[in-house]
Amino acid sequence: MASFKIEHPIARRPDAPGLFLALAPMDGVTDGSYREVLTAMFGGRSGISVCVSEFVRVLRQPVTEAVFLRHCPELARGGSTRAGVPVFVQLLGSDPAWMAEAAARAVALGAPGIDLNFGCPAKTVNNSDGGATLLKQPCRVEQVTHAVRAAVPASIPVTVKVRVGWDDAAPMVDIAMAAEQGGATWLTIHGRTRTQLYKPPVDWHAIGRAREAVSMPVVANGDLFSVSALQRCAEVSGCSAFMIGRGAMGRPELFVQARTGSDRESLSRADMQQLLLRYVAQLLADGAGQHATLGRLKQWLRMGGLLRADMAQWFDDIKRLQTLAEAEATLTQAPQVAKLSSRKSSLPSISTKAPPSPRA
Ligand SMILES: Cc1cc2nc3c(=O)[nH]c(=O)nc-3n(C[C@H](O)[C@H](O)[C@H](O)COP(=O)(O)O)c2cc1C
Repeated sequence: MASFKIEHPIARRPDAPGLFLALAPMDGVTDGSYREVLTAMFGGRSGISVCVSEFVRVLRQPVTEAVFLRHCPELARGGSTRAGVPVFVQLLGSDPAWMAEAAARAVALGAPGIDLNFGCPAKTVNNSDGGATLLKQPCRVEQVTHAVRAAVPASIPVTVKVRVGWDDAAPMVDIAMAAEQGGATWLTIHGRTRTQLYKPPVDWHAIGRAREAVSMPVVANGDLFSVSALQRCAEVSGCSAFMIGRGAMGRPELFVQARTGSDRESLSRADMQQLLLRYVAQLLADGAGQHATLGRLKQWLRMGGLLRADMAQWFDDIKRLQTLAEAEATLTQAPQVAKLSSRKSSLPSISTKAPPSPRA
């Protein structure tokens, strides 16, 4: 397997000893500010190993630098978050030549790795021949991967993200072999079919079948919301590399707990509130407007509320508020945050300085 271009001490590969934990891409959720805050607190050797950007749509035209920087502002800083966690640029498309072109551009801009999205279930994307549609013909996964692999230096990982199949998991092994044949460095599998969308059950067994069929590392993904879920997934799939998406919103501490194997130390209410307020500060420092920031805050609370009762309550408290100031005040006035001044937080401090201008 190729090694990372960024020889950062925390950059690790999923086949290295120990746990590999990737922060999943989530379109409209995991923006640069989110990655910045999460990796500052839970990145590095003791937490998140790698992040993947929201997908960049590749049609039959070049992707501009501005688009890359919007999806992955870390490109302006060498392709990693300030905490030094590499951020792979994810591409979504089906035309091998244009995908290769986009990958070469992303790497020229500083991407430390390229991830290819063959799992997106959105109808608009699938109807224009993108995302999970390609799972119906594994040879197309191979072709796109091959073209991208050939277009970027061998030192740059080209990774592939898939679901277990379109409407059943039968082709999983063929899909995994196609990705390997195309030269993928590793394969991330969300254990659901396209037609399942996000409905249960997640199929970690299919991930295990793929892992056994290929020699590249396989990263397991889907419903990893707790330490015990990670342990069960490891048993069922045989994987020691995982990607966490929605769980990061309600249980960001999972990245650390996964390594200790204990979930006794969960984030307190006060620490969670502080994390959310840091996210707000980071978004504003990164140039997001008040309205967009309010929307992102509501979104985090809505999704985090699926795992934490206090976040569900905060979402209820702010969901109808129209201004960020009101929402911040609601969060800040909650009793636990008010006590913060008299209690040292267990969270490490982070800078919310604005990043350098992309064009600097
Ligand atoms: C709102 C949302 C947006 C997503 N956007 C992307 C994306 O841009 N690229 C991608 O590969 N997967 C995307 N996914 C899928 C996640 O990366 C992940 O595979 C899925 O949520 C299952 O993992 P989880 O159970 O840990 O959340 C998205 C998921 C959600 C919920």
